[in-house]
Amino acid sequence: MSNPSLLILPGDGIGPEVMAEVRKIIDWFGAKRGLAFDVSEDLVGGAAYDAHGTPLHDDTMARALAVDAVLLGAVGGPKYDNLDFSVKPERGLLRLRKEMDLFSNLRPAQCFDALADFSSLKKDVVAGLDIMIVRELTSGVYFGEPRGIFEEGNERVGVNTQRYTESEIARVAKSAFELAMRRGKKLCSMEKANVMESGILWREVVIEVGKDYPEVELSHMYADNGAMQLVRWPKQFDVIVTDNLFGDLLSDCAAMLTGSLGMLPSASLGAPMANGRPKALYEPVHGSAPDIAGQAKANPIACILSFAMALRYSFDQGAEAARLEAAIQQVLADGVRTADLMGPEGGVPVTTSGMGDAIVKALDASL
Ligand code: IPM
Ligand code: MG
Repeated sequence: MSNPSLLILPGDGIGPEVMAEVRKIIDWFGAKRGLAFDVSEDLVGGAAYDAHGTPLHDDTMARALAVDAVLLGAVGGPKYDNLDFSVKPERGLLRLRKEMDLFSNLRPAQCFDALADFSSLKKDVVAGLDIMIVRELTSGVYFGEPRGIFEEGNERVGVNTQRYTESEIARVAKSAFELAMRRGKKLCSMEKANVMESGILWREVVIEVGKDYPEVELSHMYADNGAMQLVRWPKQFDVIVTDNLFGDLLSDCAAMLTGSLGMLPSASLGAPMANGRPKALYEPVHGSAPDIAGQAKANPIACILSFAMALRYSFDQGAEAARLEAAIQQVLADGVRTADLMGPEGGVPVTTSGMGDAIVKALDASL
């Protein structure tokens, strides 16, 4: 049998730097755990625009559709801010999500013990936090038609459309219930059924899907209240399911509970392929961080944890994923810190590759 295939798209800003550390981890699993991958690399975002005049070349799109999983770094940067909307780096990422039909976006917000002091919230509010936001990723206001900037009378009007079909809601709801079954069996659905018809339908469909999961305790919350509750007492949640735009906002909010965006991975999953694996793209939640790009300061942990999610969700290697996560816990407990994780007491931060090397060492020690 041939090795599973991985397409790596480092992208822009700190993307290539953090991805270089992921390559060390991938190599380690190949050498030490007999988990070899066929790895190929390509361009996305501004890097693809510079080379091809488009943020995602058709050949890259075709390769992404053919591999077992895609690993993406980050896209975007100030250099591209004035580009036409249609060729902005972000369009490359949105095209990948849409054409791979990655409707279920898993964004864990987990507070590592060693970092509980880094949250802007009190330690007891966040210590031990482990929640999962499931964000619908291929529909809603990000993609709804009509959209555009139109002339109306003597002024312009900007239009976007929030649109959800029952089947689009049902499939992401199902993935959230499945996840809740494997975790704490609690699911909170967030919308604004008080002001939006799409929210009313969302709630109805989620309730309907929930009938197949009687063991899961289902609750509903207006998304604005959800934002407040996330900051007030986040440990009340296990799994949250919500639409594309609310999920974008709520997941950033949840991310900050943990103290650093540099720690948070994500998985974007679609329907199963012929080999039974879901179509999948894994990426850190942090962006391209142009302010620190090229300075060896970036924290590679979010990207490495994204690879751990790939091990778990694409390759059925939950035990190896746990090994990698434990190695990261260990390194943090040992006090190894990149600059974003330096407390007020200071200390000497490690570089991006210093952090990658420390994690490889902790992996060695796990054998
Ligand atoms: C995210 C990002 C993206 C989004 C951007 C880069 C298009 O904010 O993944 O959360 O809005 O979905
Ligand atoms: Mg976002």
